Amino acid sequence: MEQDAFMEPFSSTAGVLRCKIYLLLLAGACSGLRVAVPSQTVHGIRGQALYLPVHYGFHTPASDIQVIWLFERPHTMPKYLLGSVNKSVVPDLEYQHKFTMMPPNASLLINPLQFTDEGNYIVKINIQGNGTLSASQKIQVTVDDPVTKPVVRVQPSSGAVEHVGNLTLTCLVEGGSRRAYQWLKNGRPVHTSSTSSFSLQNNSLHIAPVTKEDIGNYSCLVKNPVNGPYGLQVNSDRGLKVGEVFTVDIGEAILFDCSADSYPPNTYSWIQKTNNATYVIKHGPRLEVASEKIAQKTTDYVCCAYNNITGRRDETHFTIIITSVALVPRIGPIT
Ligand SMILES: *[C@@H]1O[C@H](CO)[C@@H](O)[C@H](O)[C@H]1NC(C)=O
Ligand SMILES: *[C@@H]1O[C@H](CO)[C@@H](O)[C@H](O)[C@H]1NC(C)=O
Ligand SMILES: *[C@@H]1O[C@H](CO)[C@@H](O)[C@H](O)[C@H]1NC(C)=O
Ligand SMILES: *[C@@H]1O[C@H](CO)[C@@H](O)[C@H](O)[C@H]1NC(C)=O
Ligand SMILES: *[C@@H]1O[C@H](CO)[C@@H](O)[C@H](O)[C@H]1NC(C)=O
Ligand SMILES: *[C@@H]1O[C@H](CO)[C@@H](O)[C@H](O)[C@H]1NC(C)=O
Ligand SMILES: *[C@@H]1O[C@H](CO)[C@@H](O)[C@H](O)[C@H]1NC(C)=O
Ligand SMILES: *[C@@H]1O[C@H](CO)[C@@H](O)[C@H](O)[C@H]1NC(C)=O
Repeated sequence: MEQDAFMEPFSSTAGVLRCKIYLLLLAGACSGLRVAVPSQTVHGIRGQALYLPVHYGFHTPASDIQVIWLFERPHTMPKYLLGSVNKSVVPDLEYQHKFTMMPPNASLLINPLQFTDEGNYIVKINIQGNGTLSASQKIQVTVDDPVTKPVVRVQPSSGAVEHVGNLTLTCLVEGGSRRAYQWLKNGRPVHTSSTSSFSLQNNSLHIAPVTKEDIGNYSCLVKNPVNGPYGLQVNSDRGLKVGEVFTVDIGEAILFDCSADSYPPNTYSWIQKTNNATYVIKHGPRLEVASEKIAQKTTDYVCCAYNNITGRRDETHFTIIITSVALVPRIGPIT
C-alpha cells in the first residue's frame, strides 16, 4: 500500500478516491500518515555503501511533501543531514557528498560508510495539505569490519601429559571489529568446567589439567554483526587461470572449487550465464564442468556464497574459455 501511495501524492483525486475506499475498511486511519522502515537496526560494513529504506503512505490530498534526515549519537545533539520538499533536496553542505536521497522517495544512501557514521538516523516526513501530517522513524546503524578467517594456536604444540599438563588454545584473527568468540568441541559448544576456562574475551580456552575426555576436534567460531562471507575465490586443479579467466582444453572435465575466507562455513551455489539468461546449475562448494557439453566456447559463471546465520552473501564471477584441440595439427586420418 505504501508503495502505491508513494507515487500518488501529486494527484489529489487519487488521494481522495483512496481515502473513500479506506473509510470503509479502517475509518480512523483514513488520512493518517504512516512511515515504515523494514528494520530498526541495520548493520553496515565500513567503506561500503549503506542503503536505509523508508516507505510511507498517506490518504489525503497533499501539496508539499517534506522529508528530513537527522543523525544522532549518544550524548550529542542531533545533526541535520539533508531534507527535501517535493523533489528538491537541501543537503547540509558539510555532508553533501556522503548522503543521497531521491525524493519523494525518502530512502537514504550513505556512501562510503565510516565508523563515525554509527548512530541513530531519524527520518521525519511532513505532509502539507488540509493541515499538516507528521510522522517519523528511527534506524540504528552499526558499522563494522568483517571478521577474517581464524587460526587456532595450541600451546604447548607438542601436547600435554594426562592429569599433569595443561593446554591453551588461542584463536587468532587478523581483522574484524566487535568480535565474539565461541569454542566448539566436535561441533558442540564448550562450557566452562572444573578443568576448562576461557580468557576474558573468550579468545583462549585453557584446559588444566588435560584428561582423556578432552580429546576431540576443537574449532573457534568468530562472529560480528557483518560476519562474511568475504574473499570468495574459485580455483581448479586443471586448466590455466589468468585473472578471472580459466582456459581449458575441449573434452576435459574440470572440477572447480569455491572457497570463502570466512567462518562459519557458508552454503554455495553456482550460476551459469548464457546469452541473457542466468540459472542456478548447482548447490555446494564444488562444480564439475564437462567441457564437451559446453555449447559455447566462452561461458560466464558466478559462484555465490551465503552465510545463512548472518544473512550475508558474496559472489565472484569467472569465465571459462574452451580451447579447441583442432588448433593443434592432427596426425592421422580425419574421420
Ligand atoms: C510541491 O508540489 C505541489 C504540487 O505540485 C505544489 O503545489 C507545491 O507548490 C510544491 N511545493 C514547493 C515548495 O515547491
Ligand atoms: C527508493 O529508491 C530506491 C533506490 O533507488 C529503490 O530501490 C526503491 O524501490 C525506491 N522506493 C520506492 C518506494 O520507490
Ligand atoms: C479538511 O479537514 C477538515 C477538518 O479535519 C475537514 O472537515 C474537511 O473535510 C477537510 N477537507 C478536505 C478537502 O479533505
Ligand atoms: C597447569 O595449571 C595448573 C593450574 O592453573 C598449575 O598449578 C600447574 O602448574 C600447571 N601445570 C603445568 C605443567 O604448567
Ligand atoms: C564467553 O563465553 C561465555 C560462554 O560461552 C558467554 O557466556 C560469555 O558471554 C562470553 N563472553 C564474552 C566477552 O564474549
Ligand atoms: C576429528 O576430525 C577428523 C577429521 O575430520 C576425524 O577423522 C576424527 O574422527 C575426528 N575426531 C573426533 C574425536 O571427532
Ligand atoms: C538482454 O536483456 C536486456 C534487458 O532485459 C534486453 O534489453 C536485451 O535486448 C537482451 N539482449 C539479448 C541479446 O537478448
Ligand atoms: C544453514 O545451512 C546449513 C548447511 O547448509 C543447514 O543445515 C541449515 O539448516 C541452514 N539453516 C537455516 C536457518 O537455513
